[in-house]
Amino acid sequence: MTARLAAAYPWIKSLHIVSMVAWMAGLLYLPRLFVYHSMARVGSDAAETFKVMERRLQRGIMTPAMLATWGFGLLLAAMPGVVDWRMGWIWAKLAIVIGLTVFHFLLARWRAAFSADQNRYPTRFFRMVNELPTLALIAIVVLVVVKPF
Ligand code: HEM
Repeated sequence: MTARLAAAYPWIKSLHIVSMVAWMAGLLYLPRLFVYHSMARVGSDAAETFKVMERRLQRGIMTPAMLATWGFGLLLAAMPGVVDWRMGWIWAKLAIVIGLTVFHFLLARWRAAFSADQNRYPTRFFRMVNELPTLALIAIVVLVVVKPF
């Protein structure tokens, strides 16, 4: 790595971690809002407030944070010597991150349904879905820090 790239590395990693925290916050909180929203009567004040909260969370925080996480992550991955591509952890991490990205777009689809008063899933579904990003977060942090394989 050139000296300039080496100096940029910890800064880019910091930005990667900050943006992934913002993205994860949304991935954890949006399905939690769906849990409460699915219990609110269609047309009630509460349901209308949830719509605004969900839209702002997704558009204002989650989508920019997801793009930033991908951008800084790919920059890190492109730096010579940062990743040993013969190791398994980076591929496992990428697979889980792609899963989180699919999850992000599923949440967007469910939010659009809520927004049109057309949610078809029960509260229990969103409670279960709410656990997925937690499991992904634990797995990713262990993979990138411990690098077990
Ligand atoms: C979106 C696509 C992503 C790509 C391409 C990517 C790629 C990378 C790369 C190449 C590194 C540097 C590894 C090293 O220095 O050994 C890194 C570090 C890190 N990534 Fe990601 N990442 C992505 C998403 C995520 C997500 C979603 C999380 C958390 C849920 C995450 C958590 C971390 C952490 C905690 C580190 C710091 C590890 C350390 O050096 O101690 N990344 N990432």
